[in-house]
Amino acid sequence: MNKYQKVDAGSVITRDGTIKLHGPDGFEGMRKAGRLAAEVLDGLVPHVVPGVTTSDIDDIVRVHMLREGGIPATLGYRGFTHSCCTSINHVICHGIPSDKKLKSGDIVNIDVTVIVDGWHGDTSRMFLVGDVPIKARRLVDITYECLMLGIEQAKPGNYLGDIGHAIQTHAQQHRYGIVRDFCGHGLGQIFHDEPEVVHLGVPGTGPELKPGMFFTIEPMINIGKAAGKILNDGWTAVTRDKSLSAQFEHSIGITETGCEIFTKSPAGLDNPPYS
Ligand code: MF3
Ligand code: CO
Ligand code: CO
Repeated sequence: MNKYQKVDAGSVITRDGTIKLHGPDGFEGMRKAGRLAAEVLDGLVPHVVPGVTTSDIDDIVRVHMLREGGIPATLGYRGFTHSCCTSINHVICHGIPSDKKLKSGDIVNIDVTVIVDGWHGDTSRMFLVGDVPIKARRLVDITYECLMLGIEQAKPGNYLGDIGHAIQTHAQQHRYGIVRDFCGHGLGQIFHDEPEVVHLGVPGTGPELKPGMFFTIEPMINIGKAAGKILNDGWTAVTRDKSLSAQFEHSIGITETGCEIFTKSPAGLDNPPYS
């Protein structure tokens, strides 16, 4: 079982297996980082159109982050050489930006993580490219609802299992597959930290949620089966049955009364349609 550890501006930060409980300086730091991450996604809206390449998107992301004093957290992270992940259609996550062009009918997840003054803002949204079939739009809508239903459970006194359970229940109502191979994660001054945030669960189980906990919720939901595999590039995770996959991600902090979403879109563009 995880132990908790109070941390503040003076603490030495390592990944030591504890769940960190941050103070007001942590909330300040995450607010700034989360806001920039959300603004980067907001800025992509006019660019995610048929004909654009995912490496064009990667360039826009990198330039925006650096211009605003942020550092792309994924650039050089475990050998990843890009500033975002672009996961198209049956790609579950960790799609690598390339010279591949987006085409009408694609759904694409763009996942950005920026470091501002040492704090990590991690968020992703689905973008609809041109005319997207109703089946795909439904998957995107339900996946966003899964994220928000999970966030509704994020309050002191609840358990991590309550979040997973809310997501699982909604996805299963629509007979979708819930990816188990990737999870949300604690974050703050570390990109991937404790706790592991599984997108399925049993109510009342797992670590208890306490004020000052920071973590992401980032459900990956498939129209078909849950099973995935990693391509030979070592990163790209795809559905085994080639079915479409969607994901949304927010970074949140547990407060005394509920939670604060650090990566909420200042422009109100948290989910499509964006215009
Ligand atoms: N942003 C992803 C997450 O939500 C992590 C991407 S790591 C990368 O945790 F190296 F693939 F970019
Ligand atoms: Co994340
Ligand atoms: Co992310």
